[in-house]
Amino acid sequence: MEVSIKLFLFSTLALGFAIIIAWYYPKEFQLASFSPLGSIFSLVSVIDFVSKKKAATAERANEQMKRSPTEGDRIFSSDELAAMTEDPILLGFLGKVFDVTKGSKHYGPGGGYQFFAGKDATRAFITGDFTESGLLSDINGLEPKEALEVKTWLDFYEKDYIYVGKLHGTYYDADGRPTEKLRSAHHLIAEGQKEKAANDADKRKFPPCNSEWSEKTGTRIWCSTRSLTLFSKPLSLFNSNSGGISRDWTGFPRKYFQPGAKSFRCACVPEQELDNPHFKMYDNCDPKAISCKLASKNE
Ligand code: HEM
Repeated sequence: MEVSIKLFLFSTLALGFAIIIAWYYPKEFQLASFSPLGSIFSLVSVIDFVSKKKAATAERANEQMKRSPTEGDRIFSSDELAAMTEDPILLGFLGKVFDVTKGSKHYGPGGGYQFFAGKDATRAFITGDFTESGLLSDINGLEPKEALEVKTWLDFYEKDYIYVGKLHGTYYDADGRPTEKLRSAHHLIAEGQKEKAANDADKRKFPPCNSEWSEKTGTRIWCSTRSLTLFSKPLSLFNSNSGGISRDWTGFPRKYFQPGAKSFRCACVPEQELDNPHFKMYDNCDPKAISCKLASKNE
């Protein structure tokens, strides 16, 4: 009885062994069959197979480390980041570090945005100053509207590239904790978002006028509910001048001196708002006209 259990276990093991060899080494399996020499060969094959697999795993890990030396949430010094401009290519944005190797045609040697590699130049994304002295990280002093653009770029890098860590410097300390500058930057972005929301609401209340220009007739502005059409189809080129905001009411074109704005814009004003002091009439335009020809280009 005991002998037959041992025999059963042995043959199960041998069969399992044979299946593994046949699976990974089909040719060798045929050669080996079950001769004693063949079994030794199979054993050597398995050892060889296991060691090759181990080497391949180590190689892959090595490769990964080379491509992304940044497993997890690593803290980079500016010197470490500065060394990462080829393979991999890393870039800092608002203190976050991204692996942008897949965008090497932009950021790699010879790329049009190569100067962004190996550093955090957040400010330059807004100022467009790509000189040595313009490639700065600090966005202090930018307008809230510009800070909103910073957020757009940050969203872009977070969506399109791999986040690999933080840069010790303007926005994070040596332990990866946010600095006061990062808090200020987020505050500025929030201000920009608030301004934009208010601006959008204002545009819905006082939509931009439709406008068209031709050399012969000059500029015409209008606030009818109808948009400019050709063969009953809206002319998108001109209608886009309404700011893409649809209007189901007729308004009166006015110069709108929006509080805080540097210049006026043409707004369609509903009748009950005409007394609002932020609105001024256009020259040559009847107070009750919904369409006006402007006296000059600068008006
Ligand atoms: C402040 C100004 C600008 C900044 C900060 C900027 C930044 C960038 C960045 C970072 C990229 C790479 C995006 C990626 O990773 O996929 C890019 C791509 C590109 N930029 Fe700019 N850019 C600016 C102005 C311009 C202007 C004025 C033009 C056109 C005249 C332009 C044309 C392009 C084009 C065509 C691409 C795509 C190139 C391609 O896919 O091969 N950029 N830009």
